[in-house]
Amino acid sequence: MVATKNILTLPGDGIGPEVMGEVRRVMAWMEQAGVVSFEIEEDLIGGCSIDAYGEPLRSETIEKAKRADAVLLGAVGGPKWDDVDFEIRPEAGLLAIRKELGLFANLRPAIVFDALADASSLKHEVVSGLDILIVRELTGGIYFGEPRGVEDMPGGGKRGFNTLLYTTPEVDRIARVGFELALKRDKRLCSIDKANVLESTRMWREEVVRVARDYPDVDLSHMLVDNAAMQLVRAPKQFDVIVTTNMFGDILSDAASMATGSLGMLPSASLGALDAEGNRNALYEPVHGTAPDIAGQGKANPLAMLLSLAMMLRYSFDMGEDADRLEKAVENVLNSGLRTGDIMSDVGKLVGTVDMGDAVIAELSRM
Ligand code: IPM
Ligand code: MG
Repeated sequence: MVATKNILTLPGDGIGPEVMGEVRRVMAWMEQAGVVSFEIEEDLIGGCSIDAYGEPLRSETIEKAKRADAVLLGAVGGPKWDDVDFEIRPEAGLLAIRKELGLFANLRPAIVFDALADASSLKHEVVSGLDILIVRELTGGIYFGEPRGVEDMPGGGKRGFNTLLYTTPEVDRIARVGFELALKRDKRLCSIDKANVLESTRMWREEVVRVARDYPDVDLSHMLVDNAAMQLVRAPKQFDVIVTTNMFGDILSDAASMATGSLGMLPSASLGALDAEGNRNALYEPVHGTAPDIAGQGKANPLAMLLSLAMMLRYSFDMGEDADRLEKAVENVLNSGLRTGDIMSDVGKLVGTVDMGDAVIAELSRM
C-alpha cells in the first residue's frame, strides 16, 4: 500500500486551470503507476472566488489548505478584476494564503535546460548550464508592514505609504533556510539588500552576518539590489543561492526567469516552519501569472506547473527520485524539440498545453 497524500488544488484564474489540468493528469498517471495515492480536493482562489463568493479567499479554503499535506496553486488575477476594491482584489487572496499558512520561505530555482539555452533573450554562453536558487522571504517586508495606506492631506492631494519592516526572528529563519540550502549545493550564499539606503535592510545584513557564524562552511557574500539586478543579466552563473527580501525577491526572480527562456519555466515552493512532528505547511505554484492574453486557448506552457509538482514531491513527500524522474521527463521532452509558444525559437515544434502534458506523460511511461 502506498501512502495517501492529501492535496488541495487551487487552479485560480487565467491559464491557471489549464496548467493545473496537466498536473492533475500527471498525478493520475503516478497513481496508476502505483507510485503514490492522492486524495485531491479542489477550491477557488482569486478572481474566480470573487465571482462566486465575493471574496478572493474564504476562511474555509484556508482551513482546507492547513489540513492538506500540500497545496498546488495555478495563478490569480486578471483584467476582469481590475476595478474591484483593493482589499478584495485577486492578489489579496494569494497574499492571505501565504500569510495564514506561515509560508515564509519561497524557493525559486532558475535552471536552464540545455535545449532552451537559445530560447533565452540572453546569450547562449551567459545562460547555458545556469542553476541558481532564489530564496525569497514571503510573509514579511513591505508587502505586509504596517502602517500602510493612502490618506488625504489637509491642503489637498494625498499621501500613500507602505512600511518595509523586518524583525530579527524573521531574518534569522529565512537566512537559515538560505544557508541550509547552500550547504546542499555549491555552498555559496549571496544576501541581497539595499543597506546603503534602507535601515531595515542594513539590519537584515547584520542579522545574516550573525547567522553565518553557525555556517562556517558556507561562503557568504552581500550585494546591493541594483547591482544584483545588473549582475543577474550580465553574469547570472556567478550566483549559487540568493537570499533576499519579499519585494526584492519578487523582482529579481522575474529577471532571473528570462535566463531560463521564459517565465513559463519557473516553478516555486513556499514553505512554512517545521513543527514538532517534522511536518510543515507547503504550497507549490509556478512563478508565471495568469497570462490573460492566451488564457483559455490551450497555448499555455504547463512545464512550470509540472516542475512545481516535482518540487512538491521532493520537499513535502521526500520523493526525490520521483521528482528527479519528472524533471528528467520534462528535459527529454524539451530535447525532443517540443515547444509551447513562450519558449519557441527557430528550432522546435510548436505544441499546445495538452500536447505538452501528453508528451511528458509518454516520457514518464517510457522511463
Ligand atoms: C509572485 C507574484 C505575486 C507577488 C503577486 C501576484 C501578488 O508576482 O508570486 O511573484 O508579488 O508575490
Ligand atoms: Mg512576481
